[in-house]
Parts: sequence; C-alpha cells; structure tokens
Amino acid sequence: MKTRDRLRIAVQKSGRLSEASQSLLQQCGLDFRQSRDKLFCFGETHPVDLLLVRDDDIPGLIADGVCDLGFVGLNVLEEQQLEQIAQAGSSRLHSLRRLGYGGCRLSIALPQEEVFAGPESLRGRRIATSYPRLLARYLSDQRVTAEIVVLSGSVEIAPRLGSADVICDLVSSGATLVANQLKEAVAILQSEAVLAAATTVFLDARQPMLELLLRRLDGVLAVRETRLLLLRSARSQLAQVQAALPTAALTTVLGIDDQADSVALQVLVSGGFGWADLEAIQHAGATQLVVLPVARMLA
Ligand code: PRP
Ligand code: ZN
Repeated sequence: MKTRDRLRIAVQKSGRLSEASQSLLQQCGLDFRQSRDKLFCFGETHPVDLLLVRDDDIPGLIADGVCDLGFVGLNVLEEQQLEQIAQAGSSRLHSLRRLGYGGCRLSIALPQEEVFAGPESLRGRRIATSYPRLLARYLSDQRVTAEIVVLSGSVEIAPRLGSADVICDLVSSGATLVANQLKEAVAILQSEAVLAAATTVFLDARQPMLELLLRRLDGVLAVRETRLLLLRSARSQLAQVQAALPTAALTTVLGIDDQADSVALQVLVSGGFGWADLEAIQHAGATQLVVLPVARMLA
C-alpha cells in the first residue's frame, strides 16, 4: 500500500453535492486554500487535501487509491460497486456514513401518455440510463428482460430522439422529467450523499486524521437535527407543559428571580422538531417559545 501523510478526499467539483460537502468539512473545523485552477484544495488547518472532480469519477479514484475518501451519491457508489463486482468478483468500496443531504432517487420514467402497469410494462422495451448495473439488478429482481441503452448524459431526451422508449435516471425535484414530458413510474433506489472509502486502516499519518474526521463528522451529524428550545411556563401549568414536550427531550427547569410563580425551561430536542410540535407545547400553556439551532455538543 502506498504511504502518504495527508488524507486525500474526492469531492464533486460542481453540482448537487459540492457545496454541502465542502460546508460539512468546514463544520468539522477543516479549512482549505483552493489552487488557482480550482481542482485542488490544500488543507491549511489539518493534513487533509481535497481533489475536486466529476462525481462519476469518485469511486474509481478511491478504488485506485488516488483518494482515500470521497463524498459521493449512493447511486454513483452502488453502480461502481456492482461494476467492480462484475469485472473483478468483488469490490472494496463501501459507504462509511450516510450524510443526510443530496437526497434523490433513481427512477424509471416513461412518456406521459403511456400507462405503467408494473415492471411487466418494461418487458422487451429499450431503457436508456447511465446506471446500467443498477437497472440490470432491478430488472433481474423483477424477472423482466429489457434492452438497456447506456448513455453517459442527457438521458431524458432519449425517448424523444427515438433511441429508447423509457428512461432510468436520477430524479430530485422532478423538474427535468416534467420539462421532457416524462412521468416517474417507479423508484428503484433511494439515494443521498455518503462518505465512501475502500479501506479505513492506514499504517501512516492518515489514520489519526481519519479518526479525528470521523469523530467530528459524527458530532456534526448528531447535532444537525438537534434544537434548543427555550420557553416559560406558570408553575401551575408546568406538568402539562412538560407532558407536551418530545419524549426523549433533555429538560432543565430554572427559577426566575422576580417571578416566583413562573419557571423557565431549557429543552434539548433531537430530530425533526417542527411547527406543530411547537404549537402543541404553546397550547399546553408555554409562553415566550424560542427555538435555536445547536452548533456543537460535547457530552
Ligand atoms: C440528474 C438527472 C437529471 C436531474 C434531475 O443529473 O440526470 O438531469 O439530475 O433532477 P430534477 O428532478 O431536480 O430535475 P445530475 O444533476 O445529478 O447530474 P449528473 O447525473 O450528470 O451528475
Ligand atoms: Zn455525474
């Protein structure tokens, strides 16, 4: 194995995942200086550098050891894993963490006027895609035979050009499908950004750096959904208000100097806390409700 004393991470240069990936690294306390050609970012605070590349190249760069880690869509990663398994019998590529952004799905879509009556409707048809391995896996799971037309881009125009009947492509907002008079029939993979690697064992200075990065990443991911809720309640209504709080919340009740019959509450809430939850707590008697994002947490 090649040795190196700086960790090298592949990140999408421009597109769906690039901004969120770089800001995640920033939240982990890593700062970078970008090269003039904008293809390389030198880590100024830590021995970690970024290579800015096309997303489809990321799994290959990791598999070849050019990069140690990569921020990439699960769709791209799984396609390459299947490709390597088909070519070499196995793949060392795997996902270390799901990152919770860049959500999209790989879906079969067909012209709006057509009827989709289940996977059977695909039998014998020409399906255009940039994800031939994932599509082949789906078709074989469904015991349907169809012709896979591999395209590297502009898959959505294939039916209009007559080079395919149906497509299998990424859908996020759905705007691309609408613009091309296509409709989504079935999602074959739910995707999001993941941190990918081929190995997590290094015999050089990359090891402590990888461990530090994963520790901080876990910290950032853990607080991402965490909120600090501040509110007030009359002592007489405290039990009611507390009953309305999310079950796993960590609550501190504080006295207020000049108001003997009121208390202030600090509530740490993790995961999906929305308007309806807040309104329920207000309805139970809470006043002066404030919801704050949590930047860092050390237990
Ligand atoms: C995907 C896909 C569509 C578009 C769908 O491409 O190929 O063109 O996104 O998104 P929408 O449902 O929000 O319109 P992507 O931007 O990921 O580029 P790439 O596949 O060429 O990397
Ligand atoms: Zn791409």
